[in-house]
Amino acid sequence: MISFLATALLSGCTPTQKTSQDKLDFPKDFKWGSASAAYQVEGGTKADGRGPNEWDKYLNPPYSLIKLVTGEDANGDVSINEYDRAQFSKDVKLIKELGVNSYRISISWSRILPEGEGKINEAGIDYYNFVINSLLKEGIQPLVTLYHLDMPLALANKGGWMNRESVKWFTDYANLCFDRFGDRVKTFLTFNEPSIELLFMQSFFEAVNNHKAPEIPASEEYISKHFSYIHHLMLAHASAVNAYHKRNLGGQIGITYNFMLCEMDTTASENGNKSLDVISRVWNNLFMDPVFKGYYPKDIFDRLNAAQYGDIQPGDFDFIKSAKTDFLGINYYGVNMYHEKKGAGFFGLVNGRNSDNPPMFNGFVNPDAFVTGLVSLKEQYNNPDILITENGAGYGIKDDTLINGRVHDTLRTSYLQRHIKAVHQAIDKGVKIKGYYVWCMFDNLEWMMGYTRRFGITYVNFQTQERIPKESYYWYQAFLKSQKNN
Ligand code: NOJ
Repeated sequence: MISFLATALLSGCTPTQKTSQDKLDFPKDFKWGSASAAYQVEGGTKADGRGPNEWDKYLNPPYSLIKLVTGEDANGDVSINEYDRAQFSKDVKLIKELGVNSYRISISWSRILPEGEGKINEAGIDYYNFVINSLLKEGIQPLVTLYHLDMPLALANKGGWMNRESVKWFTDYANLCFDRFGDRVKTFLTFNEPSIELLFMQSFFEAVNNHKAPEIPASEEYISKHFSYIHHLMLAHASAVNAYHKRNLGGQIGITYNFMLCEMDTTASENGNKSLDVISRVWNNLFMDPVFKGYYPKDIFDRLNAAQYGDIQPGDFDFIKSAKTDFLGINYYGVNMYHEKKGAGFFGLVNGRNSDNPPMFNGFVNPDAFVTGLVSLKEQYNNPDILITENGAGYGIKDDTLINGRVHDTLRTSYLQRHIKAVHQAIDKGVKIKGYYVWCMFDNLEWMMGYTRRFGITYVNFQTQERIPKESYYWYQAFLKSQKNN
């Protein structure tokens, strides 16, 4: 059992303060990392034969979603410019100095297959070889997500995940990645946050396409009518996992989810509590159960009328069951609050209210709920290996400012301390957590929120591309050093 020692590291120290010898003692082979995703950091959207993805469409006229949502006139064309190799090389130095042994990236599908299928763009492959090799040269193991919310536009135009062909498109793309990168990449993730993509992003895209006000997150009816989207994604995951294992490349493949811990922000009636349970199981179990149990939660399946909308064909469940996913990836930020009377009685999500000042953008800070949630995953899914593939705190652009060349992101620092401690507590309770990745290494493009939300432990000046490590960077660095000296 891992010993737990009270720690000065976990009670808030600045980079200049001396740290105590007392520390949390994590397993020696624990993966410590930070994370990124292609569209959020690369820019270079038109460079060297890359094809457009859906974000290129929706962040540019006539849609300009960032402008619509935040008023900021922005898109992903430059972002934090990591497609520029000189910039990426500088960034790798900061990653190395941080002291992590792993770094999470994603491959942009349309950079290596501009049409999503067919002709390969070798310039895109070269770029990812450069990225992977640059990390490995510094002793940093890449964790590679194949699909981080970025459907190639050519495939989106053919229906995207609503089209059953998507299973084949994705398998071919995954095989290409295994072929070209699988000799060096030893940990893959198929998908990042499928439920967020459907309930937040696709539903938004569809609404603007149909000149309707978006319902965020999507309504129960919307999810029901898009059950085939979920089902195709599950088939695509299974297919990629089987393809990966067939190659015997000696690595592991998993999938990662936004772990939505849901609570009511008021006292709820019996019905309210029942609907909260349904909400939580739609967010989590509907997407996790097929992968880790081989079937959808029956009541949710029936409630969403999946027999009618799911494109379920004979043999599908056997196929899904045949895939052995090596680990469960979890992205966790905070608790999501619902209000019984808000929304259509189903998804009354209360956004952005938080007792912290300034409030964290993405949920209510609650590390204890994280521990309980992780223990519940252990119980529900037969104690799988778990990687915490994202954990972090986002704040408004005005909350994370430079003062005399420093960013004192005390709240983020304390957030990370408390959540790393929570991970340790969960390990102590028998949860098999194998790694932890901070979201994120650099401030970047936060999807429809553009550059108005900062999550980085490194500050980025979006005009000059200057990088400045924040207080949280120095805290994490000191913490990682203490782990090495165990
Ligand atoms: C999860 C997503 O994977 C990532 O792309 C996003 O930036 C963070 N959450 C913060 O919202």
